[in-house]
Amino acid sequence: IPVDLFDLVVFGGTGDLARRKILPALFKRFCSGQMADGARLIGASRRDWSDADYREFVRKSLSEFAGELALDRSLVETFCRCVHYVSVDANGPRGWDELSGLMVADRVRAFYFSVDPGLFSGLSMRLQDHELMNEQSRVVVEKPFGHDLETAQALNAELAQHFDESQIYRIDHYLGKETVQNLMAVRFGNMLFEPLWNAQYIDHIQITVAETVGVDGRGEYYESAGAMRDMVQNHLMQLLCLIAMEPPTFFDPDAVRDEKLKVIRALSNVEPHHIVRGQYTAADGATSYREDVDNPRSRTESFIALKCHLNNWRWAGTPFYLRTGKRMSERDSEITVVFKETPHAIFGQEAGRHNNELTIQLQPDEGITLGVTIKDPGPGGMRLVDVPLDMSFAEALGPSADSPDAYERLIMDVIRGDQTLFMRNDEVEAAWAWTDPIIRGWQARGDAPKPYDSYSAGPDDATMMIRRDGREWRGVI
Ligand code: BG6
Repeated sequence: IPVDLFDLVVFGGTGDLARRKILPALFKRFCSGQMADGARLIGASRRDWSDADYREFVRKSLSEFAGELALDRSLVETFCRCVHYVSVDANGPRGWDELSGLMVADRVRAFYFSVDPGLFSGLSMRLQDHELMNEQSRVVVEKPFGHDLETAQALNAELAQHFDESQIYRIDHYLGKETVQNLMAVRFGNMLFEPLWNAQYIDHIQITVAETVGVDGRGEYYESAGAMRDMVQNHLMQLLCLIAMEPPTFFDPDAVRDEKLKVIRALSNVEPHHIVRGQYTAADGATSYREDVDNPRSRTESFIALKCHLNNWRWAGTPFYLRTGKRMSERDSEITVVFKETPHAIFGQEAGRHNNELTIQLQPDEGITLGVTIKDPGPGGMRLVDVPLDMSFAEALGPSADSPDAYERLIMDVIRGDQTLFMRNDEVEAAWAWTDPIIRGWQARGDAPKPYDSYSAGPDDATMMIRRDGREWRGVI
């Protein structure tokens, strides 16, 4: 079903995010018939390019990042006819009259700020001065959304001077991932789980987002961010919110975001001995983090593992273990909900005590597995064994399981005007308010990250941290 007619203006239209994500995502939605005839993509950046130059850039981006669909040249050419380009200066007058002249009334206008946050202010002012915003206009902003609470508040205040909160779409691309949305479907679309979804039945919850890539040419940004700001403050926090929140009354933007906000506000402070920071070293022919960022004394973490609690009725006493890192042994993002053991072993001690585990696999393959206990087959008496009740989405759903990229979903939601999967100002600020003291703590103590081999499971201290509690990491070990 096509969405309303729109113009999507991408500031930073010649940048890396546009090339890798935004352009291919829009092209795929175009191929699936969601872009109505006449809808346009307008690239904007400082480069002195023509429409023809930009179309060539788009063709290259699609052939690299849009997969097989981009082999259909006639589709690519038809898409390119929707593509335009304006050369604008975010901090000067150049190009703005031209951009105004291009705009058409009566359609959705989305302005995507795929640029350094330092340019948000200039862009916002000029959008307003040139009366480019109408009731059907939206702005989309990308992370990093601030560096700490203070800078996030300043950014929010800056945007609020020009736009209403209902017009601001803060992207966390994890929320656009199909299985992340599935978390809500599993929890609130089944009777099976929700009655058990609390401290009484759940022993603990783990969230792992492990990557094999290093910092890949983003050294400068990453040095000032580290895993805590780059991944935990946003992506892992969002996963935690969806796994721990109360059922919203409706699947409606503010109802969902109100519940997420309550989770973030319920997070306890993290004790220093419940945090392990790591930094990858050279191994298996791979360079070290310090070489990658060209700073032999860097103390930035490329790995973090921490244990936290939620101070609320549902989760009192249930630990949440979060872990993320670069250059780990495999790419694996998963959430494991570990239920408590059965209260009484009726089959005797030798049959063992067992517990159920629900694993929600986000990457690389999407699926949900429920570990259940059954009788070990055979005449050997009542011995118990754990087996997975496995649901691979690819097997269960066939081709319809092919998940669209997160950006496809999110960009279409912007056009539809649905903010459910976007972060609200107070959510972002609450997440920083929790993150800041943790970072300040290790800065004040002068903690250095623990070295770990590239392509390993991270520092041993992370394994020890969870073992001290009598538990083990699931997934990458
Ligand atoms: C980005 C981080 O937000 O998410 C990157 O800045 C990280 O450092 C990326 O690699 C991970 O996203 P995904 O979708 O590949 O898991």
